[in-house]
Amino acid sequence: MPRAPLGMVRLMQTDPSTRGQWGSRLGFILAAAGSAVGLGNIWRFPYVTGENGGGAFVLIYIACTVVFGLAVMWAELAVGRATQQSPVSAFGALAPGSLWKLVGYLGVVTGAGILSFYGVVAGWTVGYLLYAVGGDLSTGDPGALFGRFVERWELQVTYLVVFMGLTLLVILGGVRSGIERLTKILMPALVVLLLGLIVNGLFQPKAADGLSFYLMPDFSKVTGMTFMYALGQAFFSLSLGMGAMLTYGSYLKKDDGIAAAGAYVVLFDTAIALLAGLMIFPMLGGKPAAGGPGLVFVVLTKQFQTMPAGQWIAILFFALLAVAALTSTVSLLEVVTSSMVDEWKFRRRPAALLATLGITLLGVPSALSLGGVPWLTRIYTVGGKPQGFLDLMNFIFGNIALAVGALLLCLFVTLRWGIGPAVSELCQGGAWFGRVALPFRIAVTWLCPAAVIGLLLYMVITGQSLG
Ligand code: TRP
Repeated sequence: MPRAPLGMVRLMQTDPSTRGQWGSRLGFILAAAGSAVGLGNIWRFPYVTGENGGGAFVLIYIACTVVFGLAVMWAELAVGRATQQSPVSAFGALAPGSLWKLVGYLGVVTGAGILSFYGVVAGWTVGYLLYAVGGDLSTGDPGALFGRFVERWELQVTYLVVFMGLTLLVILGGVRSGIERLTKILMPALVVLLLGLIVNGLFQPKAADGLSFYLMPDFSKVTGMTFMYALGQAFFSLSLGMGAMLTYGSYLKKDDGIAAAGAYVVLFDTAIALLAGLMIFPMLGGKPAAGGPGLVFVVLTKQFQTMPAGQWIAILFFALLAVAALTSTVSLLEVVTSSMVDEWKFRRRPAALLATLGITLLGVPSALSLGGVPWLTRIYTVGGKPQGFLDLMNFIFGNIALAVGALLLCLFVTLRWGIGPAVSELCQGGAWFGRVALPFRIAVTWLCPAAVIGLLLYMVITGQSLG
């Protein structure tokens, strides 16, 4: 098979012998990092940190990433590469005729659920990019501007449709390897821009207050829910718990060092999230008053208003953020599409079209739940703050379903496939993994299941099922 320079080749073929493979391990790392780095890092991490007390949350988040994120990343890559299949078929292949296949189905449903609200927020990046181009961000109160923007449901639905359309184009258009090549340039550009904005933010008058909120842990307000959010955020940010990394791992070659590749992705993704926090909190100059999903958009707009060449920087920033979001939405749609192809024998084009249509429809209530339609905007409250349909989807699919998915994956590896075969898969192409096999085993067998089961029980017992 000819080697493609980067990217997945002939993804549409499901016969393992002709199924695509990454041209190089770097191609995989770029695509996996493209999946991982997205709105989860720049939009979700700062606002979840803001809502969960700052520094203490950051520490718990880092711990979750190191202990659970890395282990689940390795487990997913191992299952993916061992089977060379997409999630549903992968479980079917390692445990034929069993109910484990349902774990794959759960992943597909979770992916669709996440993409439905993720697409709405990704639409904001396009909306803000257009605002920036038109100069609409340059004056006025950023908070009010954001409120008016998300309230206009016709805009929200339009941008959702636009973003889902872009995602579909990438999945169908065969421009994926182009996008991955672009990622090689755009991701470093995003990092450079983040660094520049951090430096700028550190010179703001109240930067020290923001920094201390972000970096000085105050454990007095930490509850079980803080852990639940940190764990959910770790899985969300790393694209774990629903088979996305499993799918990407399935395109790796047998002699690729998957353990090291996975570790790079974890490191890179976590670094970007921490940088995003370092950008936002000094700019904000304290703890967020209202916080909420608008945090990053509001704080950045305010900053751009005071910066020299702020309009240009805003354009650059939202454009890069839109691309980062696009590489993530592509990975979500890819899992749904490839499962429909592998499992239900769809052809790739109708599968992708149908999935896009269904997920976009599912996203509409989220798009309407930001003020556009009152009852969708206030479905329940958490700590006195009204939560809408988007918040609900975010919590159910972006936290709970991912944690459950990761739990089931760990149970699958421990109880059915065996930790031995998983370790030997991970040692292939990287014998050093043998030295961390024991901690890996402990994390997958004990720590991860105990943490997820413990947190789910805690939520049921304390009745905090919605946060
Ligand atoms: N990790 C991406 C982000 O941080 C979002 C994402 C892409 C994702 N694919 C996923 C989350 C699969 C969970 C599962 O923006």
